[in-house]
Amino acid sequence: MNTNKIKKKIYIKTWGCQMNEHDSSIIKNILQKEKKYTVTNKPEISNILILNTCSIREKAQEKLFHQLGRWKKLKQKNPDIIIAVGGCVATQEGKKIYKRAKFINIIFGPQSLHKLPKLLYQSYKNKNLIIDIKGKSLKKFDYSPQKQTKKFTSFVTIMEGCNKYCSFCIVPYTRGKEVSRDNKEIISEIKKLTTIGVREIILLGQNVNSYHINNTLNKKKYRFSDLLYSISEIPEIQRIRYITSHPKDFSDDIIQAYKYIPQLTNFLHLPVQSGSNKILRLMKRGYTIEVYENIINKLKHIRPKINISSDFIIGFPGETEDDFEKTLHFISKINFDTSYSFIYSKRPGTRAAKLIDNTSIEEKKNRLSILQKKISQQSLQWRRRMLGTTQSVLVEGIAKNNIQELYGRTENNRIINFEGNPKFIGKFIKLKVIDINYNTYLKGEVT
Ligand code: SAH
Ligand code: F3S
Repeated sequence: MNTNKIKKKIYIKTWGCQMNEHDSSIIKNILQKEKKYTVTNKPEISNILILNTCSIREKAQEKLFHQLGRWKKLKQKNPDIIIAVGGCVATQEGKKIYKRAKFINIIFGPQSLHKLPKLLYQSYKNKNLIIDIKGKSLKKFDYSPQKQTKKFTSFVTIMEGCNKYCSFCIVPYTRGKEVSRDNKEIISEIKKLTTIGVREIILLGQNVNSYHINNTLNKKKYRFSDLLYSISEIPEIQRIRYITSHPKDFSDDIIQAYKYIPQLTNFLHLPVQSGSNKILRLMKRGYTIEVYENIINKLKHIRPKINISSDFIIGFPGETEDDFEKTLHFISKINFDTSYSFIYSKRPGTRAAKLIDNTSIEEKKNRLSILQKKISQQSLQWRRRMLGTTQSVLVEGIAKNNIQELYGRTENNRIINFEGNPKFIGKFIKLKVIDINYNTYLKGEVT
């Protein structure tokens, strides 16, 4: 088959976290580099269908077969279509997916993205199922998306995988062991990004603050805080964010970095998961609420205005009414801003899956809604406090809902619309907050 003449159309569907979104951009980049592929957003006209799955919560398997069922119909019309299943469900289920969906061609894991051109080539040559889900290579980052168009904020992956094995979490099994990317590579990627306009970077990883490189020459460790200092020396990068960090590794050198690196935003997402020490123990999180509070207090000492956000899991096995009350109490105490909360979802093969769980789903839903109401009240308070203040905003473009206006993000990650000259796009400006409920956004004016 001559694949060079007409470009094959690829459709990619992505589920899950920013890590997966980023992986999908890498897939696009890798395949488009091959010149014989082009990306489309219409599955019905594509030659290759790729599903990048997530298994963190929900009934991932059912969702997968549901989606594959839809694609099976496309393949019945055009048997030449190649279907590839990637991401965490692919690693977890492997060949079992094929047993239920014999029409798929490729199963690949998050660490095999860079091999996709080869896997596709093999699949066109020989119609047998191809499975590539092993490995912990960071090779894929050689293909980090190279954006051609102007861009002002960008993700940069610094590490992958996780060794923490929280009892509820599937990630260590699907994404594998922690691996940190070479610091020189990271810096060079960021410098490249500055040439297309990037002024804010979001460092990405399952556990960014356990990032480290062992220097075999001087036996010194290059830590996450060292990376932050290195990035802060790139003059164009005026804002540094990161997701996700873990309380257990939130060492004093990182806290100190907030004193010396003004580019670090006054916003931190630090998942606590529960406000009950008993539940944190069962979750195997490796810290207590006292340790967490201590980190926040030290940070607030350096940055009194810092906003803290978190993830919460509701209805973990053994969570009593009393444990839940403790979580609510802790939410008030820390005064969390916008947070993500989820009902506990049993993940096959994890340690928590063996725990007895006798709280009804109705009760869990009830707790979740109480918690979410509380967080949104606190979030509103944070917004109210912003009214009348002057905020530093990175202007990202024309407002999505009003072409007469521009929009940008405040340090605490809120979208703010304002009337201004398009020449502000890509720059930091000072805006006074004049409304906090402007189509769910903030409204500002140039000061
Ligand atoms: N590394 C991060 C979290 C990665 S997973 C950390 O240390 O917190 C993202 C979020 O998904 C978690 O913070 C947790 O709140 C949620 N999550 C993970 N597994 C879950 C499960 N089995 N059920 C419900 N929520 C889960
Ligand atoms: Fe999951 Fe815990 Fe790691 S939540 S990603 S096992 S830190």
